[in-house]
Amino acid sequence: MTVLPALQLRGVEKRFGDTWVLRGVDLEVRAGERHALIGPNGAGKSTLFSLIAGERRASAGRIELNGADATRLSPVAISRRGLARSFQTTSVFPRLSVFDNLRCAVLAARRDGVRAWRRWFGSALVDARANDVLAAIGLQHAAHSPAGMLSYAEQRALDLGLALAGGAHTLLLDEPTAGMNRAEAARAIDLIRATTAGRTLLMVEHDMDAVFGLADRVSVLVQGRVIATGAPAEIRANDAVRDAYLGSGFGR
Ligand SMILES: Nc1ncnc2c1ncn2[C@@H]1O[C@H](COP(=O)(O)OP(=O)(O)O)[C@@H](O)[C@H]1O
Ligand SMILES: [Mg+2]
Repeated sequence: MTVLPALQLRGVEKRFGDTWVLRGVDLEVRAGERHALIGPNGAGKSTLFSLIAGERRASAGRIELNGADATRLSPVAISRRGLARSFQTTSVFPRLSVFDNLRCAVLAARRDGVRAWRRWFGSALVDARANDVLAAIGLQHAAHSPAGMLSYAEQRALDLGLALAGGAHTLLLDEPTAGMNRAEAARAIDLIRATTAGRTLLMVEHDMDAVFGLADRVSVLVQGRVIATGAPAEIRANDAVRDAYLGSGFGR
């Protein structure tokens, strides 16, 4: 049996005015794999994520989720198809408690709209789901603290939790370890590994140790094109990739 890719991009282009940021991206993310997207600053990685998540419209090309066309879907429609994006900057409600942030995320993923929130908020079903996620991200000790009081690394963990709370099967994480020290980054990667088991992950990451330790496959975006895709060891040995990263210590 052939399993459809979780995500398939064909010839995806994005232009801002006269500037071509993405020049024809082909990318396949297999269902259940952890796929890293790497590339120099300004390569177009975040722009690509915004197209996949439906926040911006591609100028050309096609994006499929689980084999179905998703090129022109809204962000809401895309999240309904099971794709969640977490942001380079954190997206929690700072004055709500950690637990209530998670409850909101569970509720937001339901189809029954805001008017049903009063009925569901505090329901055992929603609380149980929020508690599961709370445990998975290791924030039980902070359940009732305002999210804004968490450390930066904890807020990023909560951010991941918000994506998980909605039940997404495909996660896009844009630089999840940005701004963390080495110990925090290592913990974040462990958390991502544990919580994405059985899901599909596409992740932008600059920390090469993290990329090579976590990813099943790696794609390299340079000047708006994917120049290589392969297992971490293949990418490390790829001459074109080395050239694109010349002087950055890549592959050492
Ligand atoms: N809204 C926009 N308008 C014009 N140019 C943009 C816009 N967003 C991003 N860009 C440009 O697109 C290029 C790629 O940006 P980005 O996707 O953020 O790269 P990366 O995430 O790989 O660092 C950059 O040159 C950036 O200046
Ligand atoms: Mg970026």
